[in-house]
Amino acid sequence: MKRYEFLNRFIWGAATASYQVEGAIHEDGRTPSIWDTFCERPGVISDGSSGAEACDQYHRYAEDIELMKKLGIDAYRLSVAWPRIFPELGGKVNQKGVDYYLRLLDALRDADIKPVVTMYHWDLPQYLEDRGGWTNRDTSKRYADYAETLAKAFGDRVDIWTTFNEPWCSAYLGYGNGIHAPGIADYGKALDAVHHLNLAHGLGAQAVHGVLGDQANISVTLNLAVHIAQSDSEADIAAKRRADLISNEVFLGPMLEGRYDPEIFEVTAQDSDWSCIQESDLEIIHQPLHSLGLNYYATTHVQGLETPKQHTAAVWGENPVPAQEIVDVLPPEGELTAMGWNQEPEGLTNTLVELSKRFPDLPLMVTENGSAWDDDVSEGEAVSIEGANAESDIETHGKIVHDPKRVAYLNAHVGAVAKALQQGANVIGYFAWSLLDNFEWSFGYTKRFGIIRVDYDTQVRIWKDSGLRYREIVHDNAIEL
Ligand code: NOJ
Repeated sequence: MKRYEFLNRFIWGAATASYQVEGAIHEDGRTPSIWDTFCERPGVISDGSSGAEACDQYHRYAEDIELMKKLGIDAYRLSVAWPRIFPELGGKVNQKGVDYYLRLLDALRDADIKPVVTMYHWDLPQYLEDRGGWTNRDTSKRYADYAETLAKAFGDRVDIWTTFNEPWCSAYLGYGNGIHAPGIADYGKALDAVHHLNLAHGLGAQAVHGVLGDQANISVTLNLAVHIAQSDSEADIAAKRRADLISNEVFLGPMLEGRYDPEIFEVTAQDSDWSCIQESDLEIIHQPLHSLGLNYYATTHVQGLETPKQHTAAVWGENPVPAQEIVDVLPPEGELTAMGWNQEPEGLTNTLVELSKRFPDLPLMVTENGSAWDDDVSEGEAVSIEGANAESDIETHGKIVHDPKRVAYLNAHVGAVAKALQQGANVIGYFAWSLLDNFEWSFGYTKRFGIIRVDYDTQVRIWKDSGLRYREIVHDNAIEL
């Protein structure tokens, strides 16, 4: 065993997102987002639930900040709900919505916890979806106005601004296979959404820089898929390449290099002629960034297909990446998490190392990493695990969740970051997903990712061993590998 010490300025954090934790969907003037509307459709959310109450963080943020203090984290990654800020099309800024985030941001400051603010984590105002949502170029311009408003309202209260969280999901799951809001299944539209999200990223970054100056710390969070070719065969390598192009390069290229790889146009030709791209869009999209956020959970093993699949929406459902007719996604192996995802921490190490080689000047931040398991609650006090000092300031309500699998996943993945650092990757922070169990989109409340449990009947927060373990890692600023 070797002890790996992180740098003193390494940022340890935990993450959530507005629709997943806030609740209070009718409060203080908020109007519906696409997720409120989507959740009303029968059958789309596995337990028929919605984010209407979620973790009620809208009213319980002070209690949650107390938990963050006990965890000892440096930063909290949260997102702003657009329909709280602009409840109506072309309407005025909703001061009550702004005030909520001012209260939250000020309370974080008082607790000495840095806010990392995602401006868009999927809750598009429904009135914009009614006009085409991300398939409409106008949404990108509206986003720029929204970003400018946030910069003016919250200014220096925010340490890091993140334009988008996982635009891949918004485009491909929202408009490609329809398993996320707004629930549309149309390849061509998904690719229009890709470009308009990219454009909005650029316009939003420009807007924030315009208000706060060049020093404004701007980032974007991508869920770069880690595709692993099953063999060195030409067909398998080609399958990996195609999957990388469609999932990753469509965002990385424009945002960080100001270009779409021309191969992207070739492999998507039957779905789109990309006529949504206008002159100087790429210049707008390519804005200076202070860091790149990476959300990492698992890897995807792929192989080439000898007989191309039919290009139908049904195929999409199984494999939510367009133009994948030659790509076969293999079933995940090993012990799978409750999401059915594999556990391959080396994927995180390798991605971080490769990204740092490709973008040597760009600091990387793991903005989400975590695992869902079917937790059980046990009677008892929080006990020390591996020497963790579970001090009496932890309120246990006589209950604790022993979640050895989440603890093991956490150790392995923090270890993977340490290994990436050893190999020269420029990683500046790690955020656990999630601070709390929360509304897991189309899975409703059936999947628990929290390092702290939420009892949804009472809204009581219950510590898990993984929360205690994370507290120890943060405190030690080190991990044994
Ligand atoms: C990524 C998303 O950003 C987050 O909202 C989601 O809950 C987690 N992955 C887990 O699926």
